[in-house]
Amino acid sequence: MESNIIISVEDIYKSYGNVHALEGVSFQVPRGSILGLLGPNGAGKTTLVNILTTLLKPDKGRALISGIDVARQPSKVRSRIGLAGQFAAVDENLTGKENLELVGTLYHLPRAEVRVRARRLLEEFSLTDAVNRKTKTYSGGMRRRLDVASSLIGEPEILFLDEPTTGLDPKSRLELWETIEGLVRKGTTVLLTTQYLEEADYLTDRIVIIDQGKVVAQGTSKELKSTIGGGVLEIHVADKQHVVALVEALNVFGPHADFALGIVTIPVKEGTKTLSETIRKIDAANIEISDIELRKPTLDEVFLELTGNNRPVPK
Ligand SMILES: Nc1ncnc2c1ncn2[C@@H]1O[C@H](COP(=O)(O)OP(=O)(O)OP(=O)(O)O)[C@@H](O)[C@H]1O
Ligand SMILES: [Mg+2]
Repeated sequence: MESNIIISVEDIYKSYGNVHALEGVSFQVPRGSILGLLGPNGAGKTTLVNILTTLLKPDKGRALISGIDVARQPSKVRSRIGLAGQFAAVDENLTGKENLELVGTLYHLPRAEVRVRARRLLEEFSLTDAVNRKTKTYSGGMRRRLDVASSLIGEPEILFLDEPTTGLDPKSRLELWETIEGLVRKGTTVLLTTQYLEEADYLTDRIVIIDQGKVVAQGTSKELKSTIGGGVLEIHVADKQHVVALVEALNVFGPHADFALGIVTIPVKEGTKTLSETIRKIDAANIEISDIELRKPTLDEVFLELTGNNRPVPK
């Protein structure tokens, strides 16, 4: 095994009864990088995170963390990783400070050290005002931040974040992005799942897209965007009422309509031929347009193209 590979996922299968959550997933993560695991609801992201963090055992295949098999030596793996699961795991009847200190003692850290780290993390996650309040009085975003903070108290080499920014307001989301970037600068490896494609685009070095338990694409966001070779044709109708008529007139595979903005986009596979054909069809249907533009695809569009699903709706 190459020594710079810190997470190695090798042909993992996992079923719940007759639901095949993972069907042969493989990928590797280099040390010190951020990997984004993307996929629509039910793709198998949480199942994979749970396997990598020793909470679930795979049916087949294996996963190595720093070369250690997660199913065979779970406690050895646990001492190197941190996890903030999809649903915040905080004890409602403890204060923010107590929650952090509890997690710290689970790592067998000296009390004084736990206190120092807890104070620093509470500051970093803007929770100092609420340190002594029971977490049942916290807002959803505060719980989320506390949960991510507790995943860091053991100063793990590898951090797993399952939808870390879901439910956070834009400011808290940006702050968390900065924290994650800071950790990676210091050498931490991060695997995060996200429903926000712009988050993967901005934050991650590499992206693995899974759908129905299988890897459908992987690469940098730039590489993934180049998989829709010709780009995307974006057409703005003069009158928003005409979006449906335009979709019908174009009669192409996979047009995407934005009714609120009056925009129809289509992936372009044959470059200029599609552009001239499209303009002819629009003319023939007598639909007035205000703008037409050939541009590079967004990660959203790559995702749609690869998974054939609608964009996942954040929970
Ligand atoms: N404990 C369970 N028992 C039965 N089926 C399960 C269980 N956990 C997950 N599944 C099923 O396995 C599949 C993968 O679920 P998983 O939670 O891994 O998806 P996900 O990609 O994390 O989705 P989301 O984006 O909604 O969090 C889904 O079909 C789900 O219904
Ligand atoms: Mg999930």
